[in-house]
Amino acid sequence: MARKPMIAGNWKMYKTSGEGAILMQALESSVSSMWDRVDVVVCPPFTALKSVSTVIELDRLNIGLGAQDCHWEQDGAFTGAISTRMLTELRCDHVIVGHSERREMFGDTDQNVNKKVKAVFAAGMVPIMCCGETLNVHEAGDAESYVRAQVRAGLEGLTVDQAESVIVAYEPIWAIGTGRTPTPEVANDVARTIRATIGAMFGPPAAMEARVLYGGSVKPENAVMFLREPDIDGALVGGAALNADSFTEIIEAAL
Ligand code: PGA
Repeated sequence: MARKPMIAGNWKMYKTSGEGAILMQALESSVSSMWDRVDVVVCPPFTALKSVSTVIELDRLNIGLGAQDCHWEQDGAFTGAISTRMLTELRCDHVIVGHSERREMFGDTDQNVNKKVKAVFAAGMVPIMCCGETLNVHEAGDAESYVRAQVRAGLEGLTVDQAESVIVAYEPIWAIGTGRTPTPEVANDVARTIRATIGAMFGPPAAMEARVLYGGSVKPENAVMFLREPDIDGALVGGAALNADSFTEIIEAAL
């Protein structure tokens, strides 16, 4: 089966609850005509999940709702953390796990990322697991082996069914929010390596089914270039997801 393209918006620490609802209403008309050909997911901050979820429900939008992180335990003394149980109650269906900003600033390790990926699946949601190399690793020509190790560690111990539905976002750290990007060919090479790694771990059907997104300075002007690469199934969009027009243009590019 051909993989359905996915465009996911990572709002990061932007948009209050009210601002998130307004952005959703602005997205509504454009997205509703395209949902059967592209999966659209928005990932607001925790505090905006409820208001965004309400707009999705009331207006019957075919837009997925994702969180930007979670804890791997169900409950407990983890001040400031949010569990998958809290996210499913708000109708989340996806969770971004292991974003480089969480790895760099909040101490996410490959081991924690793996626990979170499993917790997300156990709760019936789908993880969008991020991986990607630093500028130093990139310049040393080691991006593929670096990313392969992240994917191996992050997806370790999943079932084949889980591996078939997993989403991996390749986000070179030096491309995030910088306006710099790898060439589409280079991004596709890494995406192919990710797919091959999934294949080596879980077998060819998982490699065929799992979706690999590219992220890092995706804009309306460059989206088509990445999205037409054979191993890139969509995009994880940061800055350009905060504006209804630019996010819509990227969704259109996926078609
Ligand atoms: P950017 O962020 O599109 O603003 O580069 C992407 C991301 O961090 O997911």
